[in-house]
Amino acid sequence: MNTVEWSDALLLDFEPMDAVHREFVDLLALAQGAPDEALAKAWSAVVEHTVQHFGREDAWMRKTRFASAENHILQHRVVLNVLREGSVLAQAGRLAEVREMAGELAVWFAKHTQSLDAALALHMRREPASVATSAGGGAARRAAGHHTARPPH
Ligand SMILES: [Fe+2]
Ligand SMILES: [Fe+2]
Repeated sequence: MNTVEWSDALLLDFEPMDAVHREFVDLLALAQGAPDEALAKAWSAVVEHTVQHFGREDAWMRKTRFASAENHILQHRVVLNVLREGSVLAQAGRLAEVREMAGELAVWFAKHTQSLDAALALHMRREPASVATSAGGGAARRAAGHHTARPPH
């Protein structure tokens, strides 16, 4: 099974996204490590968190008229549908299939973060007005200054 693990390779230098992604990794790791009797509950925590996570990214893309929004939003929708099917499987006691799905989700998440989310993070760092309402002035100041992946001092 592919076990999810946080790594700095997942950092996008856009704190509102990085924070949500860290939470996602924590929740998915809990689900992957959950004993059978706790798996359904741990999986539904992943699904609920993902609804918020994707919803927030979708809202940013719509609000800022992000050029690649359509493809990214569609990918979120497809994945969320799969995760909801996982909840049904978990309720039905088909735990091996849920565990397999969790492994696939871990692989998908790393790819998605480093491609579509990375592009969105870059775009958001250049949208100080949108960032200011959700992330405070720090990210906005960084966006105005430089676009490298270095953390602030
Ligand atoms: Fe994301
Ligand atoms: Fe995304």
